[in-house]
Amino acid sequence: MGFFDQFPRFYTTSQTSPYPHRLNSRHSAVIQRNVDWIKGARVLDIASHDGRWAFAALQAGAAHVTGIEPRQELIDNAITTFREYDTAPSRFSFLCGDVFDLIKGKQFDVVFCLGFFYHTMRHAELFDLIERTGAKFVVIDTEVTPTVDEVQEQANGDPRLVYANPYGVQMLLDQVDNEQMAWSDSLTRNGYTIVGRPSRPAVKFLAKHFGFSIEVFNWTDFFSRNPHVIPSMADYSEGWRDTFFCER
Ligand SMILES: C[S@@+](CC[C@H](N)C(=O)[O-])C[C@H]1O[C@@H](n2cnc3c(N)ncnc32)[C@H](O)[C@@H]1O
Repeated sequence: MGFFDQFPRFYTTSQTSPYPHRLNSRHSAVIQRNVDWIKGARVLDIASHDGRWAFAALQAGAAHVTGIEPRQELIDNAITTFREYDTAPSRFSFLCGDVFDLIKGKQFDVVFCLGFFYHTMRHAELFDLIERTGAKFVVIDTEVTPTVDEVQEQANGDPRLVYANPYGVQMLLDQVDNEQMAWSDSLTRNGYTIVGRPSRPAVKFLAKHFGFSIEVFNWTDFFSRNPHVIPSMADYSEGWRDTFFCER
């Protein structure tokens, strides 16, 4: 039985890939692997959506979770679910709005940035703000440049000699009235805003710059042991999504 099978309300409170195999597989990477970091921690869940990862963090022993989410209806779903599953109100809070406004001045031990790093063009600024929370451990689960398009880093020790753009960001448009996409911001025109899908080397470049070492979840190994989940994990299995663990 997967984690979310015990809390099936999460299969009904979101339209953003709420599939059992997908949520339970992501739980292995985001929560199970990191229980030692999460236990007793103050956790920030950026783009907390219907509360799925904030709730999972509490179940894994987090002391407190803060969710930041601009869509009030998703926060309402989260609060209803937390109540239904008897979660003490003192252990969680949800802030409604844009992460770039609401993260400032707050302290956390662990930050989740799950399904959000490709819904912004402000990657460096977001990493800076995450670093300023004081967090020692950050999970970034994000779409990335497809493996076939990726340019490898050629480290030569000179930060100004970078060839062929390994740290590229693919520009895309997000429809801002879609619950799984970016919230409307100053870049929005005609219902769409500009966002960027970073390359894997770009995520590593940012982590290193802000003082974190980084590891990547081995989805290939996971899929070889759990082939039945692949149909609901195409973005991961086809090489255009990955899960990064940053620690310092
Ligand atoms: C693809 S969903 C990810 C949901 C969940 N974190 C997960 O990984 O399963 C993207 C979420 O980002 C939220 N979001 C969009 N713009 C945001 C912003 N500026 N600040 C915080 N959250 C935002 C959306 O409302 C949506 O809930």
